[in-house]
Amino acid sequence: MGLERVASIDDLRLRARRRIPRFAFDLVDGGAESERNLRRNVEAFEEVELTPRYMVDVSDIDTRATLFGQTYDAPVGIAPIGMLNAFWPGADLTLARLCKRRNIPYVASSAASTALEALAKAADGNAWFQLYVSSDADVTEGLIARAEAAGYTTLMVTVDVPAAGKRDRDIRNQLSVPFRITPEVVAQLIANPRWSLETLRHGKPNVANYADLLQSATSYADVQKTLITPGFAWDDLKRLRARWKGTLLVKGILHPQDAEICAEMGCDGIVVSNHGGRQVAFGPATIEALPAIAEAVGGRLTVILDSGIRRGVDVLRAKARGADFAFAGRAFAYGVGAGGEAGAERAFEILHLELVRALGQLGVPSYGDFGPPRP
Ligand SMILES: Cc1cc2nc3c(=O)[nH]c(=O)nc-3n(C[C@H](O)[C@H](O)[C@H](O)COP(=O)(O)O)c2cc1C
Repeated sequence: MGLERVASIDDLRLRARRRIPRFAFDLVDGGAESERNLRRNVEAFEEVELTPRYMVDVSDIDTRATLFGQTYDAPVGIAPIGMLNAFWPGADLTLARLCKRRNIPYVASSAASTALEALAKAADGNAWFQLYVSSDADVTEGLIARAEAAGYTTLMVTVDVPAAGKRDRDIRNQLSVPFRITPEVVAQLIANPRWSLETLRHGKPNVANYADLLQSATSYADVQKTLITPGFAWDDLKRLRARWKGTLLVKGILHPQDAEICAEMGCDGIVVSNHGGRQVAFGPATIEALPAIAEAVGGRLTVILDSGIRRGVDVLRAKARGADFAFAGRAFAYGVGAGGEAGAERAFEILHLELVRALGQLGVPSYGDFGPPRP
């Protein structure tokens, strides 16, 4: 089946599932514990209705959106994804290049499987850097200094990982550090020869930005300590604000009071996110959390939303509830998994065409003019 017959992001997901070993597919597809939040993110979008208005000239649809002084061709960017090359070899660079080609933002993860310098180069002016604050201050400072040197001007600090999420699928698949080749893994590798050969060609994926530090890691706990800290608190955010001269965003906000504090501390934006349902199973869907947050910040900072975007219209649902811009993670990951470079392109094309169509159906020629429902 050619990619032109792939109609939706869900279709891309199914196609990716057929090409990728189970343990690697689950690594991206799965969520925390019961996965209630993962499902809820998508269901809650479906419940948001937008009412069309007709007899408006929509012959020219404009999907451009401006964020922090830069105009992008579509109001959706690629969220930071760690270790994505384990899902499909070369995926990080494929997505960074897509963002350059399509002029949308690309967020390079601290935990990416490609070094931040290479991703900055590939996304060429469209790259932002996502920071995990380590329990070792020197590690954090090292990453910030490298990001500055590589030319990043936007830093997105992720705050929703005080502890790593418990992902039951990964436990069932016995994902461990160092990675163990069990008989089940061997069977999955044989059943997915394309993935296995490409992975051999590209080399074993690792967390490239910390490659040296993690070489000696013998347990998941070691990795966790290097990547994240449960000690990160508001005073640390204040220090980070003073340290980073560029645009600073806080990712993982779900509570209106946390959003308010970010505004008071002079952050430039927040990402209303539940990490795509990967951290907890009991929290709200982001589209549900959004209205109270937008009201609390009252335009003092830029509000971006992610988690659960699977259709172009979801970007408009988010805007109707107070977001300026949206990001998607899995939608693009499924694209690469389904068909490499062409699959990534198809993921963008599907979301963009759906968005253009929805704007036309709603009687709104320009994304910039779309707002909360008109009375
Ligand atoms: C496999 C995977 C890895 C992720 N790694 C990171 C990461 O390293 N840093 C981060 O801030 N968020 C990470 N996220 C969360 C995404 O940035 C984003 O919040 C989430 O994917 C949005 O939900 P969606 O996948 O439903 O679009 C990851 C998500 C996935 C699926």
